[in-house]
Amino acid sequence: MTELEVNGVAHRVEADPAMPLLWVIREKLELTGTKFGCGIAQCGACTVHLDGAPVRSCTTPLSAAAGRSVTTIEGLAANGTRHPLQQAWIDEQVPQCGYCQSGQIMSAAALLAHNAAPTDADIDVAMRGNICRCGTYARIRRAIKRAAGERDTDG
Ligand code: FES
Ligand code: FES
Repeated sequence: MTELEVNGVAHRVEADPAMPLLWVIREKLELTGTKFGCGIAQCGACTVHLDGAPVRSCTTPLSAAAGRSVTTIEGLAANGTRHPLQQAWIDEQVPQCGYCQSGQIMSAAALLAHNAAPTDADIDVAMRGNICRCGTYARIRRAIKRAAGERDTDG
């Protein structure tokens, strides 16, 4: 039995400690906003926060989350109020197919949590591990800047 907190709620999960956190989240806790893309830490679709830091849940074992705090896309809104990034994603109409977008938003949220006014270079570094097959990168950057209260000057 592994104890962890997910989106502010304490859970005791009965699963192999080696089970990827992604499958614990999706199958044991039935939080399906976090997506499976590659399974080998290459695409970012499965990004969640572990104690506030972005991690690839597809290659993070449950044991690594023991006693720690996990935040998924379902937990990003606070008290029913959208996270500024969620609102910006809507305002900029970022998603196309949408599959990568939970991971994109979670990586962006981790960036803004420690850098309230990211430069283009900061955004490029923070988001480089999140792949979008639909090519929504320009809108993602605009939305991050909108959420940060900045105006994008390049796109
Ligand atoms: S599914 Fe985890 S990085 Fe692609
Ligand atoms: S919106 Fe389709 S993969 Fe990113």
